[in-house]
Amino acid sequence: MTAEEPVATELNRFSRTLTQEISNPAAKAMLFGVGLSEDDMQKPQIGIASTGYEGNTCNMHLNGLSVYVKQGIQANGLVGLIFNTIGVSDGMTNGNDGMRYSLPSRDLIADSIESVVTAQWYDGVVTVVGCDKNMPGAVMAMARLDRPGIMVYGGTIRSGHYKGQKLDIVSAFEALGKKYANNISDEDYNGVIRNSIPGAGACGGMYTANTMASSIEAMGLSLPFSSSYPATHEGKQEECKKIGAAMRVLLERNITPQDIITPKSLENALTVVMALGGSTNAVLHFLAIARSAGLSLTIDDIQAISDRVPLLADLKPSGKYYMEDMLAIGGVPAVMKYLLKNGMLHGDCMTVTGKTVAENLVDIPDLDFDAQQIIHPLTNPIKKTGHIQILRGNLAPTGSVAKITGKEGERFEGVAKVCEHEGDVIDALQNGGIQAGQVIVIRNAGPKGGPGMSEMLKPTSAVMGAGFGDKVALITDGRFSGGTHGFVVGHITPEAFEGGPIALVKDGDRITIDTIGREITLHVSDEELAERRRQWTPPAPRFVKGVLGKYIRNVKSASEGCVTDEA
Ligand code: FES
Repeated sequence: MTAEEPVATELNRFSRTLTQEISNPAAKAMLFGVGLSEDDMQKPQIGIASTGYEGNTCNMHLNGLSVYVKQGIQANGLVGLIFNTIGVSDGMTNGNDGMRYSLPSRDLIADSIESVVTAQWYDGVVTVVGCDKNMPGAVMAMARLDRPGIMVYGGTIRSGHYKGQKLDIVSAFEALGKKYANNISDEDYNGVIRNSIPGAGACGGMYTANTMASSIEAMGLSLPFSSSYPATHEGKQEECKKIGAAMRVLLERNITPQDIITPKSLENALTVVMALGGSTNAVLHFLAIARSAGLSLTIDDIQAISDRVPLLADLKPSGKYYMEDMLAIGGVPAVMKYLLKNGMLHGDCMTVTGKTVAENLVDIPDLDFDAQQIIHPLTNPIKKTGHIQILRGNLAPTGSVAKITGKEGERFEGVAKVCEHEGDVIDALQNGGIQAGQVIVIRNAGPKGGPGMSEMLKPTSAVMGAGFGDKVALITDGRFSGGTHGFVVGHITPEAFEGGPIALVKDGDRITIDTIGREITLHVSDEELAERRRQWTPPAPRFVKGVLGKYIRNVKSASEGCVTDEA
């Protein structure tokens, strides 16, 4: 699709089934009942899906932003109808018990948006989303629906402050590690907890929410600067009000998500993930988004992008700066312009503005490398290739995902310390069971075994907070928070629940993680592993009913994006 393509004739091509066809009097009666006028019955209807809810700072303001979106929709001759779907706070899930629901919530969000928009015959959809799983869930639904759609990111949080230090959610987790190591007073511990989170917005580093928001903007499914305006910045409300005009263009030209999500735009998205040092969760989510759009994307495709894109951004968790600092230097559009100018983005990809990536960036000022230190030039990158590395080997025959920024080294060799639950790491830290030179193995945390493939932010933060830094490595068939840093390898497949080799590791086994050779090796003979396998008993599923029972039965492996809607 190009900027000159023809106008579609029926803007209300779906909703007219309810508003124009004589066979649906009850639907029309109900639409009058919710306040639509005779005039409104001729207009296209746009579902506005909000993951707003009061109990999470990432989502607490989204219902308010949805009202601004609706105003912009109505002002452009369209009918906006707000509905809600769920969210799960990744910051408040309390270890496995709650965290089991985090990744499944992505697919629940996708399923619920697909259900409402299809069942109610909406002509387009705007998704207003905040916490980690909201964005991929929304985009998966938009790809499946393939009706004109725009994602609005709720925005990053401002940083907290305590005793002259900037804080965020990871500061609270790391304070716990310091407490276990007796490195912090009770007063300062409480001061950090009290001041880490000052209000609305998603976690403030280049963690999963900001990673997905930045890369989805690069993919073209949100307006320029959507990922750069903090939640409380006035630009965020302005963005919401502009959605109506953009939606009108998409409807008139029938530009749909599958025109926007293409092999090239997926490459653009993942290029931005690598340049900005984004979360390993982006691997899972873009595998799933591609599948929702009917496209093929593999972990090896992602490795190829990592091989050619340097890490440029000095952003947390491994760097110094927060997402809120990005706006002042030109935001994600300035980074995109720099990448485009250097031949690292496809400029001809369509976006929700109705213009191409290159057209959107024409008036964006260039990055000023003399005036800012957040984004390094390509001539002096933080790391010459991407930080996300796909490792295979006898410990991960079908793949695993490492996050290597270069600060933690490129090779780790150590002895296994096996933990069947992330809580065991915390116990071990408290009783001196964690020592330098160990590879902590957290297993039965995969998509089926966890279930839900829990994030390991609590153990990794506690290990960092306790001062182990680059002295230990952590590997798991679970996954990591975008806030995790250190020498970590997750998404190990096959997972332990399915009899992957990680199920056979014993305390004291030697493990090598080689990110140059991209190999993760368990130094145990094939004969010994075969004997251990003979003695291994498959674990019973932890749930057989409810959301998690369904999830265990349906979820694909991490190397397949943990999708739940494929046979
Ligand atoms: Fe919501 Fe981190 S807990 S973005």
